[in-house]
Amino acid sequence: ANIRDDKISEETKKLISSLPSHTDSQGQKICQYQGCWYYYNTLQGVLNFQRDFQPKDTDIILASYPKSGTTWLKALTVALLERSMSDSSSDDDHPLLYDNPHGIVPFLETDQCSSSNLAKFSASPRLLSTHMPLQAMHETLKNSSCKIVYICRNVKDMLISLWFFGSAVHKIEPTRSLLESMFKSLCNGTNYYGPFWEHLLGYWRRSVEDPKHVLFMRYEEMKAEPHAQIKRLANFLGCPFTKQEEDGGVVDKILDLCSLRNLSSLEVNKTGKIKNMDHKFYFRKGEVGDSKNYLTPEMENKIDMIIQEKLQGSGLKF
Ligand code: A3P
Repeated sequence: ANIRDDKISEETKKLISSLPSHTDSQGQKICQYQGCWYYYNTLQGVLNFQRDFQPKDTDIILASYPKSGTTWLKALTVALLERSMSDSSSDDDHPLLYDNPHGIVPFLETDQCSSSNLAKFSASPRLLSTHMPLQAMHETLKNSSCKIVYICRNVKDMLISLWFFGSAVHKIEPTRSLLESMFKSLCNGTNYYGPFWEHLLGYWRRSVEDPKHVLFMRYEEMKAEPHAQIKRLANFLGCPFTKQEEDGGVVDKILDLCSLRNLSSLEVNKTGKIKNMDHKFYFRKGEVGDSKNYLTPEMENKIDMIIQEKLQGSGLKF
């Protein structure tokens, strides 16, 4: 096999050559491991995580399918914990003003959390994130009572968000043919971190079985009723708002701080970068239903049919 990435070990290269693989719509090599599709370097990160990660019961893991509201969930969680950890922190030294949420909350599989990087998270709880499906963390977390928050989003909006994001990152035009090819791999489940239905169902089922440890949130509900949803998140994380805080407008303050409008207007998010990725790419429209403007009725029908078929009987509705 023609695998050139320096960060990929010989052992992983051997493993990859035995896995199903193909080149995705953006020209990147992708392979299927334990039922999920990963880029080669992401797979290395997943393997490192599975080998090295030592969970703590106080860990909080923010999980999502890419382009489902990860950045927003990270910001909100940082703001919630920041408030419960240091009452004295004044508004102008808030960490969200100086770093992008992805710089504050690392990804387990792509930010090499398993190595010494985690040392800087000596504070408890450690706030971590992942796009891995739950099944990829099963063995590693099986004796841990850490908390997982999953955010899901309407799959059509997620696809459109991914189309624009992928184009921005690769500095290419968001052409119809790119969208069509991304749509196809989304539907046949062979895209990055796909199939999406396995991703959704893994977290959904666990949230029903074990609601104390897995919270299932939705982007659309966050948009529709932000107050109720951030309170739900705060309760789950064990840092509920006090009456005094509610009366004092703390809920609104956090929502304002974490709004797309505010975050995207901060200097750090306008001009900053993380591993060569402009922070600004994480912020676009943040609307519900934007996919209506781009998907044909046939594309919408096809996605609806897949959702109906795959989620049937699970209790998870779209
Ligand atoms: P759109 O491309 O539809 O605008 P992720 O954070 O998982 O990468 O998802 C990115 C999507 O979340 C983008 O959606 C982006 O605009 C939106 N988003 C980013 N920050 C947000 C915020 N603070 N509030 C609401 N939506 C946000």
